[in-house]
Amino acid sequence: MDKTAVVAQMRQLIRLIQVHNHAYHVMDQPVIEDSEYDQLFHQLKALEQQHPQLIQSDSPTDKVGDVPLSRFETMTHMVPMLSLGNVFNQEELFAFARRIEERLPNQTIQYDVELKFDGLAISLWYENGVLTRGVTRGDGETGEVITQNVRTIRNLPKVLSSDTMEIPQLLEVRGEVLMPKAGFERLNAEQEARGEKTFANPRNAAAGSLRQLDPAIAAARPLAFYAYGIAQCEPPHGLSSMSASLQWLSDLGFAVGERQFICDSIQQVQNTYEQINRERPALSVEIDGMVIKVNDLKQQQQLGFLSREPRWATAYKFPAVAALTTVENIDWQVGRTGTLTPVARLNPVSVGGVTVSNVTLHNIGEIHRLDVRIGDTVSVYRSGDVIPKVEKVWPEFRPEHAMQISLPAQCPVCSSPVVMPEGEALARCSGGLYCAAQRIEAIRHFVSRKALDIEGLGDRWVESLLRLDLLKDVADIYQLHTHREQLLGLEKMGEKSVQNLFDAIETSKKTTLAAFIYALGIRGVGETTARMLANSFQTFEALRNAEIDTLKKTPDVGDITAEWIIDFFRAPHNMEVIDRLLAAGIHWDAPIAPTRQPFNGESWVITGTLSQMGRDEATQMLQALGARVSGSVSAKTRCVVAGEKAGSKLEKAEKLGIPVLDETAFLALMAEYGQRSA
Ligand code: IVH
Repeated sequence: MDKTAVVAQMRQLIRLIQVHNHAYHVMDQPVIEDSEYDQLFHQLKALEQQHPQLIQSDSPTDKVGDVPLSRFETMTHMVPMLSLGNVFNQEELFAFARRIEERLPNQTIQYDVELKFDGLAISLWYENGVLTRGVTRGDGETGEVITQNVRTIRNLPKVLSSDTMEIPQLLEVRGEVLMPKAGFERLNAEQEARGEKTFANPRNAAAGSLRQLDPAIAAARPLAFYAYGIAQCEPPHGLSSMSASLQWLSDLGFAVGERQFICDSIQQVQNTYEQINRERPALSVEIDGMVIKVNDLKQQQQLGFLSREPRWATAYKFPAVAALTTVENIDWQVGRTGTLTPVARLNPVSVGGVTVSNVTLHNIGEIHRLDVRIGDTVSVYRSGDVIPKVEKVWPEFRPEHAMQISLPAQCPVCSSPVVMPEGEALARCSGGLYCAAQRIEAIRHFVSRKALDIEGLGDRWVESLLRLDLLKDVADIYQLHTHREQLLGLEKMGEKSVQNLFDAIETSKKTTLAAFIYALGIRGVGETTARMLANSFQTFEALRNAEIDTLKKTPDVGDITAEWIIDFFRAPHNMEVIDRLLAAGIHWDAPIAPTRQPFNGESWVITGTLSQMGRDEATQMLQALGARVSGSVSAKTRCVVAGEKAGSKLEKAEKLGIPVLDETAFLALMAEYGQRSA
């Protein structure tokens, strides 16, 4: 392929990905399956790997946190984005005020005191009220254009409107992007549940999210924008003070800080600072100090700048705080997905005004790194971070009886074995089906569509049933009929909804081996792996007694997943639950035994619309015969199944001389191999 053809293909893929990002994140109406979206993504990635010199600047493929920023376009700021001087104590604050008074003798000076947001400075351009550009601070002179990511920030007006005032032709607003504390904690919990890395503090999380080259990822992050200044306005806004500017921005729809003060003396500024330092934990966002600005804009102009900093403003930073205390004990908490997290119980200590009595140690690796033991004296540190952390252990104060900490062998909640395959950072309880800590997730998964598909058993039911203690584990679902009276007593649960629920539960008993394996929620065993396991082992008995080496040889099962499977079936309580499920009457037809896997190792592609079956079904049939179903056609493709309106893939297959089957021919072939009656 020549360069222009590669670029054309890249551009087309990027455009498609953008369209689908928009459909998914902005319109909330995805038009393609996630797997199809992934295919677009992989195709683009493969092209980029082959032609790294042709990677497009707006390519959405690079998902890693520390993205090379050169991938974004850069732009020189019309008005440089300067930094602020710092003061750290009352003396320095008063010196700042004195310098101002000397330059503005005999003038009354009012100070505007704002929160100093701990995020990332950005500049936003609005042309005729429409957001046209978002640029990072960069080095203050030149920043990166991140308009797409900025557009995903929910509290940021994309279009300005006002009933009472004129919308400027050009408005450049400055402010900070950050992640509010609540969103940060939610994001970290989600990251942890997915086994992905957590962020140290909201600032890092916000920075990592804004720098995402993939706006879809940025969109999924709970970012917020707070405005703190106007860099340009055409025609001029005519405002005369900082506080009026903030009010004006707020009227236009921008969020401004949740606290703001006007002080008539520098002593009042000091008092305000102390007050905010005390109230800091109650704020919804993380701040690392206050910003003190001369309120009058004319005075600001008179004061001007000293090199890169305004003379009319300063940051007043909060001191980072640490305190010494002792570790009384370590508890292991079990999360909803079974991860074990060590939590140090501390002798309660005040760290910068907040009493800290628990701190997470994240994982056993962190315990080893710090070499922290029960009885140790530790420094607990809290800076911008919401979450205090153990920063240092003082071995010189270690008492003789100090106790080393090791991973518990059994889950503190359900006593199932605790497991941690080599190469994994997190330990987990293996009693996924039985453990009370994992109950909700296990039930939700078990009843989900691709598992046992008990549609009637939604979250509302599950919550009520847990409250009544009628669902201790998934096997209890099949005993619910013995509690009919109790269920009828539930608010808003009439005879009809209870009967519907029972019917749905009854219907779910007839399932497939693959769906049942998937429903167990074994770590690493998604839908496809479950299908592979069902095809390879044919019976549930064979799977539950499988040796690790046999599992490792199963297509789609990696070494770590093989270990998770073994651990799962070794946890005695899981087996109890499974036995009760089978005793309740869950059953399936034996999978059609592919005596051999005639398509083993072949790569097939399905394209276009199939009329007599879904793509999922076609994929399943091919996989059952040993084929891999791929998203793109290459010289290695064995065969292409082309439905209606097949496009570029079909063309490519024809060009490469790859066999193509239409739907009828495909069905006939499948019937021949016992996959579907013709
Ligand atoms: S005003 C001439 N107000 O602090 C600079 N900055 O050290 C005017 N910041 O990168 C900046 N909160 O992003 C201003 N309420 C606030 C602020 C604030 C946070 C950041 C800003 C800048 C840094 C300066």
